[in-house]
Amino acid sequence: MTTAQLSITGLGCHHGAHEVLRDITLDIARGEVVSSIGPSGSGKSTLLRTLVGLKTPSSGTVRLDGAPVDYASRKSLDAARERMAIVCRQYNLFQNMNVLRNVTIAPVMIRRRPRAESTALIVSREMAFVPEVSDRVVIMDRGEIVETGDPATLFDAPRTDRACAFVGKILRH
Ligand SMILES: Nc1ncnc2c1ncn2[C@@H]1O[C@H](COP(=O)(O)OP(=O)(O)OP(=O)(O)O)[C@@H](O)[C@H]1O
Ligand SMILES: [Mg+2]
Repeated sequence: MTTAQLSITGLGCHHGAHEVLRDITLDIARGEVVSSIGPSGSGKSTLLRTLVGLKTPSSGTVRLDGAPVDYASRKSLDAARERMAIVCRQYNLFQNMNVLRNVTIAPVMIRRRPRAESTALIVSREMAFVPEVSDRVVIMDRGEIVETGDPATLFDAPRTDRACAFVGKILRH
């Protein structure tokens, strides 16, 4: 089995007493592009912020190529930030459909490496763009991953009630 480039296991995060991420587990392979979608407040931005250490995890482990990130260590965090960055969208998505050619199109966490080796975790509200660029999609709701799958399956045949509710809402717009 190959080691995931980014491996998130049981990640939790609190804003005060409020649990905003709960037991997030997600492996992203080298070169893979994963989009995180879900209702407002579901924790998409908090997930990216936590991965780069802008929010401290309350539980769980993040590994880069198998090596755990120690968020309590400045040195470990600096090393992690050499490899992960949040890049915010600056341009119109539809003029820039290839996320790996232009990482400025969406809030995205990407390893600063040659494109073919880069792993991206994208947060996007532009649903037309998500299936175009994503190998896999993760639906979040209330701090949890409720469903993961390839874009076609997930948009066409969501399995869980919470995923159906979100996908149904998108399709009605
Ligand atoms: N600085 C903060 N202090 C307290 N609670 C916060 C803070 N930032 C976010 N939250 C809460 O954390 C939860 C997750 O918010 P987050 O911004 O990660 O959601 P999101 O999925 O990115 O939403 P959106 O689609 O609106 O960007 C929400 O309940 C939000 O109210
Ligand atoms: Mg957000």
